[in-house]
Amino acid sequence: MMDILKELVEIAGERVSASPSERYCYRGDASQVFGHPEFVIRPESTNQVSRILRLCNENLVPVTARGAGTGLSGGCSPVKGGVVLDTSGMNRIVEIDIENQQVIVEPGVIAEDLNLHLHPYGFFFPPDPGSMAMCTIGGMIANNSSGMRCVKYGTVREYILDLEVALADGRVIHTGKKVLKSSAGYDLTRLFVGSEGTLGIITKAALKLAPLPKTRKLILSFFEQADIASQAVIKVFSEGITPSACEILDKTTLSVLKLCDSHLAIDEEGDMILFEVDGTETSTDEAARQIVEICKPLALSSRIVSGSEMKGIWAARRLVGASISRLDPQKTRVYMGEDVGVPLKEMPTLIRRVQQIAGKLNIPAMKYGHIGDGNLHVALFIDVSDELEWEKLRYAADKIHRAALDLGGTVSSEHGIGLARAKYLPEQLGADAFSVMHSIKIALDPKGILNPGKMGFD
Ligand code: LAC
Ligand code: ZN
Repeated sequence: MMDILKELVEIAGERVSASPSERYCYRGDASQVFGHPEFVIRPESTNQVSRILRLCNENLVPVTARGAGTGLSGGCSPVKGGVVLDTSGMNRIVEIDIENQQVIVEPGVIAEDLNLHLHPYGFFFPPDPGSMAMCTIGGMIANNSSGMRCVKYGTVREYILDLEVALADGRVIHTGKKVLKSSAGYDLTRLFVGSEGTLGIITKAALKLAPLPKTRKLILSFFEQADIASQAVIKVFSEGITPSACEILDKTTLSVLKLCDSHLAIDEEGDMILFEVDGTETSTDEAARQIVEICKPLALSSRIVSGSEMKGIWAARRLVGASISRLDPQKTRVYMGEDVGVPLKEMPTLIRRVQQIAGKLNIPAMKYGHIGDGNLHVALFIDVSDELEWEKLRYAADKIHRAALDLGGTVSSEHGIGLARAKYLPEQLGADAFSVMHSIKIALDPKGILNPGKMGFD
């Protein structure tokens, strides 16, 4: 390994570290899945990434790519050791091309920073995860992490026109062109979106942009039960209204948020649906009024919010992940069974099943997330020092994953498979589809050096 270290230093100089403290910091993501890297490297160019991969491939050294480490499935945890390749230093916005409504970025650009650069041009990159202020574009592409606005604007994969990717053997390819339409062969771009660093390492991305809407408004609707709230959501979409975001924050989530932010301007009780509409002043007024009307027979109350009050409510929504730990200081949130998705029509059933599962086991389960696109985040809490609680949690998470599959859904809508959900992938895809995926993995990474141990691959 000392020889490898010397060669890595020849490629990336002081951007290579083997210090115990750095290796400790890079052992995992924001979930409870950890590995033990031998080296941490922060490359600054495609050329460095390519040379590092060639060297590691020749020497069978595992390479796990990492963005900001905000992942929740163990995706960037180096479970087979080797190198953690931190791309967050490759953070240049290479080109803002407004005439083509595109931007070219390096993978380490923070999603919110990108949007701050784009706003003066009147454009934005719509995918918007809760961790927008921290997460990198590369990590979002690797997991197809789409967040709040895909109900109207689509997921990350709909915004990627071209990727520059360094392959396991060091070759560098482009997967697309800066064009909106292309019928030229297999869609390699989509193959790499959601591939979680198992097929190659993204070193640049051409992203499509959307014009910034002139105005946005929120409609807050409160319901006695979360499953009733989800029925109202189905009605809104069935009436042909497409909110630009549609989130659920259940009663417990709201009470925890109030603990964290005593100024939070939400006095109502109940499970809340946050609808956002965007467009012109007139179109948003009309859509907001329609949503209030549609919700009326099911809701306890609804109101329309705009301006600075709206900003405060969005800021609170983004805090949910972090503030949830305030629920009970004796318990820790474990990220299992927390990112399932179902067809919208099945959402009331999913919610009832989650409540039954958690209720039977007496585990607190907060529900929040992107209900409009069928994605429910379930926050399960246990005393992590108690093995019996762990057993209950594993059982509950398994039941939640299986409920999603049973309802025709997915075990992960946006956080990825990583290690946490690997065992469900063959079941979700079917054995033959999983074996096709495996063949692709072997074709692109025959020595298995890229993020080994993830997505059910060795
Ligand atoms: C969110 C993250 C957990 O929606 O996906 O806040
Ligand atoms: Zn989310």
